[in-house]
Amino acid sequence: SGQGRLIVVSNRVALPDQTATGGLASAMRASLQERGGVWFGWSGKVARQTASEVHKQSDGVVEYATIDLSRTDHDDFYDGFANRTLWPLLHYRPDLVDYDRKHLAGYLRVNNLFAEQLISLIGPNDLVWINDYHLIPLAAMLRERGVRNRIGFFLHTPLPAASLLIALPRHRELLETLASYDLVGLHTPRDQRALEEYFLYEVGASMRRDGRIRTPQGRTFRAEVFPIGIDTAQVAESASHADEHEEINDLKQSLEGRALIIGVDRLDYSKGLPERFHAYARLLERSPQLHRKVTFLQIAPPSRGGVPEYRQIRRELERMAGHINGMYAAPDWVPIRYVNNSFPHSLLSGYYRIARVGLVTPLRDGMNLVAKEYVASQNPDDPGVLVLSRFAGAAQELRDALLVNPADTEEVAEALGIALEMSLHERRVRWRRMMDVLEKQDVTAWRNAFLRDLAG
Ligand code: UDP
Ligand code: G6P
Repeated sequence: SGQGRLIVVSNRVALPDQTATGGLASAMRASLQERGGVWFGWSGKVARQTASEVHKQSDGVVEYATIDLSRTDHDDFYDGFANRTLWPLLHYRPDLVDYDRKHLAGYLRVNNLFAEQLISLIGPNDLVWINDYHLIPLAAMLRERGVRNRIGFFLHTPLPAASLLIALPRHRELLETLASYDLVGLHTPRDQRALEEYFLYEVGASMRRDGRIRTPQGRTFRAEVFPIGIDTAQVAESASHADEHEEINDLKQSLEGRALIIGVDRLDYSKGLPERFHAYARLLERSPQLHRKVTFLQIAPPSRGGVPEYRQIRRELERMAGHINGMYAAPDWVPIRYVNNSFPHSLLSGYYRIARVGLVTPLRDGMNLVAKEYVASQNPDDPGVLVLSRFAGAAQELRDALLVNPADTEEVAEALGIALEMSLHERRVRWRRMMDVLEKQDVTAWRNAFLRDLAG
């Protein structure tokens, strides 16, 4: 039996020539480009019918197989259960959880359709790697159809404690299906502990001596920690060529020597953007000497506009940006530049490089790749400072960032002040230590560790 192919499955697929906004798409693109394989998922399009055909294309290394979703399936599965029920709960927002049974039914329906389409793609020795919260029950549905291959799952979000997970509608039915995987990967030890506790106390599973979790039905699986990385060398290389881009030079010139603080996030309530704007306003309030000397650029491409909470946060930020600029702007200075567009990695790395401070303050985040990209993009001779939320998975690895509680306005404002004044020596020392971590634990190491473990 020869070595099979790698089949990656995720709702979001980064098709060639698309800007892949989102950590999953960035990481899987980097992983697959090196190793080759098949990438199966949603085409990103809404059509008359779900999966009436599989769109196939190839870039020579990766074969893409994508399906459209019908309007109803898209609304119930993606806007509904995935992003109005699972996403808020996984990001510690039970107050936002939606309990519409129609959405749960749509979620199961679309997972079944994924299973049906996948079956015909899977060869006997293929490794199947399913990603993220959209597709939790997929392995169970493949097993029902007789698939015996090794199937792994990676959760790209945080996993909250069992006491919170039980707020999910029909939580046992859904979460128990994780036992159909051979391996479940998580970003941090805390997420792993949450999964183990859920299975021990809610499902009545037991822990075997070899570390596998055994359900009362007798299925066993493993939950392991694999902190996701970036393509560190590639990001650093691309950032070092920043000045070849007109856009980068335009931004630099427009700063007229002012220090740049940069934030880059999908417009999502988990990213702590209103809290961040408050903290920046507080910095301006307490440090008049910084007026006209600093500029905050927030890049925030709109995301999941079909979900009411996302439309609301967009309105809220427009209001706040206008308010803060109205308070502090001068004829020749705008304190916040708020941009609702997405940019390709080649430009982002250049923007990161000219920013003195990377401001990454999610209220909760599985990992947060922007934090890592910011560090990897710095000029080693004159690196900037990362201000990072303790509630991002990345804070477990990037101990030399200035770690903050994003909800504590005063603490974030203070960290910004410290970052802007930090000596070159201290910036270099902190940057080098973070870069060592990113070079060792890059996306290749992440993928290899997961696949080695999955292949057993
Ligand atoms: N990103 C991008 N263009 C943008 C904004 C973001 O390519 O305009 C990328 C960013 O470089 C990063 C990813 O989207 O690789 C965001 O990942 P992260 O883990 O920080 O957050 P997520 O969006 O997955 O919650
Ligand atoms: C997070 C999720 C991914 C998702 C990405 C972008 O990183 O973990 O699964 O792809 O956000 O969100 P979107 O809804 O556009 O796919």
